[in-house]
Amino acid sequence: MHSVSFLKTGGPEVLEYKEIKLEDPKNGEVLIKHSAIGLNFIDTYHRSGLYPVSLPSGIGLEGAGIIEKVGPGVSNFKEGDKVAYAAAPLGSYSSHRIYPIKSLVKVPDGIELDVAACLMTKGLTTFYLLHKTYEVKKGQTILFHAAAGGVGQIFCQWAKSLGCAVIGTVGSDEKIELAKKYGCDEVINYSKENFKDRVMEITNNEGLPVVYDGVGKVTLEKSLACLKMRGMMVSFGNASGKLDPVDVGKLIAPKGLYLTRPSIAQYTATREELDEASQMLFEMVKSGKVKVELFKKYKLKDVIDAHKDLEGRKILGPAVIIP
Ligand SMILES: NC(=O)c1ccc[n+]([C@@H]2O[C@H](COP(=O)([O-])OP(=O)(O)OC[C@H]3O[C@@H](n4cnc5c(N)ncnc54)[C@H](OP(=O)(O)O)[C@@H]3O)[C@@H](O)[C@H]2O)c1
Repeated sequence: MHSVSFLKTGGPEVLEYKEIKLEDPKNGEVLIKHSAIGLNFIDTYHRSGLYPVSLPSGIGLEGAGIIEKVGPGVSNFKEGDKVAYAAAPLGSYSSHRIYPIKSLVKVPDGIELDVAACLMTKGLTTFYLLHKTYEVKKGQTILFHAAAGGVGQIFCQWAKSLGCAVIGTVGSDEKIELAKKYGCDEVINYSKENFKDRVMEITNNEGLPVVYDGVGKVTLEKSLACLKMRGMMVSFGNASGKLDPVDVGKLIAPKGLYLTRPSIAQYTATREELDEASQMLFEMVKSGKVKVELFKKYKLKDVIDAHKDLEGRKILGPAVIIP
């Protein structure tokens, strides 16, 4: 059994691949043998210290695999079940782990475990962003940043299937076709063009009802400027760095905007919420409305390369780590 952990925060090189031994699962827990592990930008925030963790720490919030052992008091999961999760505690970068069943879902037939491993974070996030944080309506034009990325490819297809016109941004020309392939109607290379000006052009100066911004530091202010009166700013990530404080009087008040900073844990906290979201997600994939093509499978021992690629903006879609 192996896992990846870190003793101090820092660059990708702080990640250490080690042999481990596990105890038996306790009350409400199971032992999972991972088939695949989701690679997510949030993992870099934990590793770098942007999101503080207590050290030493495991890493990774998402995985899929087979239950090898069940602990006492577990009745709704059994040995051999195909399961997946996207929630704390950290530690999914491992061949095996003990995990609490409260955040676990069964993976239905027809969904491969390596797909499930990348779907849980990116897909459950997409579900709550489009259906709960702001319920998009058919015919609305919406903006999503980093549209060719992991969440981006799933989000844009899902939004398109709901009848939205999707404007996506990307950081390089090579990502433009990819973003179009996965649901974007318009793609803006925000490294070259002022995306706010382009959005205003596309919407005839009307602006948008909602902007989904996972890029953060370098985009937030212009994202707010893309909104129309009483629009909703969904700031759900910070791939470009920690957000600066928002000047409410200058940026929010003039148009009476809404600003929210949601996270997946707030929308999947109860069993009912987790089941509703994951069932909808699996249906979207099984129906073919959301297609998942894995960009790359990294080996667990090569996880440093995976983090370098993630921060180097080289990941072109959902990627997983194979133990
Ligand atoms: N709140 C939540 O519940 C939640 C859940 C999941 C993910 N997220 C957030 O969603 C975002 C996307 O996550 P992901 O895992 O799918 O990652 P990803 O989109 O595959 O990778 C991040 C992308 O951000 C863009 N980016 C812009 N400036 C960057 C910079 N300075 N350094 C690195 N990347 C930069 C890059 O795309 P371009 O080159 O095209 O700009 C990069 O590919 C992240 O901010 C993540 O934290 C939030």
